[in-house]
Amino acid sequence: MVLSIESSCDDSAIAVTEIATNKLVFHKKISQEIEHSVYGGVVPELAARLHAEALPKILEQCEPYFKKIKAVAVTTSPGLAVTLIEGVTLAKAVSVALDIPLIAVNHLTGHIYSLFIEKETLFPLTVLLVSGGHTQVMEVRSLTDIATVAKSMDDSFGESFDKVAKMMGLGYPGGPVIEKLAKEGDRKRYDFTVPLLRTPKFAFSYSGLKNAVRLAVEKSEPQDYKDIAASFEYTASKHLVHKLKKYFQTNPPKNFAIVGGASANLYLRGEIKKLLQPYNAQLLLSDLEYCSDNAAMIGRVAVDMYKQGMFTSLEEVSVAARVKM
Ligand code: KG4
Ligand code: ZN
Repeated sequence: MVLSIESSCDDSAIAVTEIATNKLVFHKKISQEIEHSVYGGVVPELAARLHAEALPKILEQCEPYFKKIKAVAVTTSPGLAVTLIEGVTLAKAVSVALDIPLIAVNHLTGHIYSLFIEKETLFPLTVLLVSGGHTQVMEVRSLTDIATVAKSMDDSFGESFDKVAKMMGLGYPGGPVIEKLAKEGDRKRYDFTVPLLRTPKFAFSYSGLKNAVRLAVEKSEPQDYKDIAASFEYTASKHLVHKLKKYFQTNPPKNFAIVGGASANLYLRGEIKKLLQPYNAQLLLSDLEYCSDNAAMIGRVAVDMYKQGMFTSLEEVSVAARVKM
């Protein structure tokens, strides 16, 4: 079994995964959404303190498995440096106490592997990652062959939902609350410009749309918010669909996946499904509970890394807020 720890942002999570079968035998996550909600976003120092309280509590519950654990895995990048450190410190302690090797897992690879929890992997795969920290398209050929072909030049898709919710005084995280509000609204009432429509560059941008929404919010009344939310969600999703459609002209998808916290968005899922129809491409999605940050996805990557002997010595392990991928 592999024990895995995730603390890259505002979720403290630990999982235990069986190496031979990929079976998830334990998974617990303590989310900090309520604590950060009053600030309209994640406060790194508060997040670090909450991880320091939550992670040891979850680890205690894993004690029955300790004898069978062959390696400890931990997210080391990308993420908030002060929160990553909390997971890494605990992982190092577990590594020493149980005398087992350490596996350093990339959080983005984790999101890709959220598709394969208790399953076999499927490659090659074109992946759209939409989370609070990232909006990118990756061509994934194997665990170690992941090429990013497009990313956001500024804000991410999920982050833009968080910022729009903050403007409307709706707390954090913004994704679920904006999606709910948008369902009741008129998607066509506000004619927000789709970002990067005229540039051929395969990239994403959400800061212009965010500013346009800010102006609309300032000029409107709370009863208009549902229409603003609907028009925003429509435009934010259209931007992804528009760029992917162009990319598919030269790179038709075979297997396509949407991962990351914002992949829970049902409107986006529906629009991507429509986009894939002419290609007969298979659409892979994670279970809703594994779209947002969790340790089960980190454990699933770790199982494959364990099998390939991809360990990191305690002296070498370090955290990185950003990572080239
Ligand atoms: O993957 P994740 O848990 O954390 C990061 O790695 O960033 O993603 C969290 C992000 C937040 O920005 C949240 O607002 C967004 O995912 N999100 C959504 C939805 N559910 C969560 N965005 C749009 N629609 C949703 N239903
Ligand atoms: Zn994430």
